[in-house]
Amino acid sequence: MNGDHVRLTTSLPTEVIRCHEAELSLGALLRGWRGRALLTQEQLAQRTGLNVRTVRRLEHNVLRQPRITSILLLAEALELDGEERAMLAAVARGPAASPEHVDLEETCPAVTVPRQLPADVAAFVGRKRELTALSDYQNTNTATVVAIDGMAGVGKTALAVHAAHLLSSRFSDGQLFVNLHGHTREMTPVDPRDALARMLRALGIPDDRVPGHIDDRAALYRSVVADREVLIVLDNAADEDQVRPLLPAGPGCLVIVTSRRRLIGLDDTRTLSLDVLPMEEAVALFTRTAGREHVVDAPAGVLTETVERCGQLPLAIRIAAVRLQAHPTWGVRHLLDRLNDDRLSELTTGRHSVTAALDLSYQRLSEDQRRVYRLLGSQAGTEFGVDEVAAVQHTTVVRARRQLDQLLDVHLLQEPAPCRYRFHDLVRDHVSALLHRTRCEAARANSA
Ligand SMILES: Nc1ncnc2c1ncn2[C@@H]1O[C@H](COP(=O)(O)OP(=O)(O)OP(=O)(O)O)[C@@H](O)[C@H]1O
Ligand SMILES: [Mg+2]
Repeated sequence: MNGDHVRLTTSLPTEVIRCHEAELSLGALLRGWRGRALLTQEQLAQRTGLNVRTVRRLEHNVLRQPRITSILLLAEALELDGEERAMLAAVARGPAASPEHVDLEETCPAVTVPRQLPADVAAFVGRKRELTALSDYQNTNTATVVAIDGMAGVGKTALAVHAAHLLSSRFSDGQLFVNLHGHTREMTPVDPRDALARMLRALGIPDDRVPGHIDDRAALYRSVVADREVLIVLDNAADEDQVRPLLPAGPGCLVIVTSRRRLIGLDDTRTLSLDVLPMEEAVALFTRTAGREHVVDAPAGVLTETVERCGQLPLAIRIAAVRLQAHPTWGVRHLLDRLNDDRLSELTTGRHSVTAALDLSYQRLSEDQRRVYRLLGSQAGTEFGVDEVAAVQHTTVVRARRQLDQLLDVHLLQEPAPCRYRFHDLVRDHVSALLHRTRCEAARANSA
């Protein structure tokens, strides 16, 4: 998603849009996209800054032609792609409008005191220890940098955004939020040079004053924020090299970085490694997301077993709960049966999927790391030590330890005891499915 200004210029042929218009009302489109984004009406209202009543009226087609700035905010909050933005703009402007030239950039004023935080997670649960740690960090002579790491879908962004909302009143010069797209489908990680340009623009520097060279950009950025109190969230970082140029120097700034990778190569950075939710909080997240009415009849044991099958991973819990909500006839027992049957297939809804999230982590590995990941997945044991891994590979203990540490750093492995390694349940399922896929492809290639 492209920061502060979004150009909604349609590229779809008029007939295609008219055809969709005939089938789809604005309300139906918004309801569908909101469901896909796993948002409630309240969350969408909060994320867009619109009144929740306005959201409801739009979804029920009571309000049919929203203001153009509202369309822009909705498109941003629902993370629509180019075609969807075009469709939204065309449907919202009604049949008389010409969809070819809907340009919203002109209507969007320049931002000088940034307030870029996305909406807080409405039903945020737990993480008390981490929130206390985040609010206690305070350096006196340099910027404070806290890096939150953890496996895919563990709740890094949710925690960073929640903490940033809680702390925002301490930062009178605003808040910056940059998605660095370290692990986003069909997107390469953001070049820090581009990130700097966007941050400078958000801080009020006109485009023609942004220097070309990355070092000059970083220096100007540090100068601009040197005497300001700014809270900066760098979400979804790929690695240390991407983050380093974006770090301010002045003591008034707090930077919260999230990454699937442990960013141990950043100097003077505190790290917070996030684990899956404890059982009680996992059940609370499931209940709040599904709605109490959908779980009220379920025995406590079935609820705990269900979130256990989700590996107590927030992403998986949210998806399972949304599926239950979308199928009122199911009941928690039925959902659990389905999870027991084939949980990775079950843990998919719209664009959100545990498999897709883990695939992205896998794709970011080097060839050698992928090979080791698959090799470990093919071992029968649930836990393994360095010696066993070295023996299977006919390699040295030193090399095996380095390989295991690399998978540990990107949270595809866990270390439950010193030098003992294991997969999270869902990661084990992922690697098994991957091996199955690889074997089928090889068999097909051999028989061709
Ligand atoms: N503590 C929490 N309370 C409520 N919801 C949460 C919490 N933690 C995570 N979630 C929800 O779980 C889902 C996954 O969380 P999130 O996107 O923050 O994970 P992530 O670790 O940032 O994933 P990724 O590695 O893909 O960036 C989201 O829908 C989020 O709102
Ligand atoms: Mg995230």
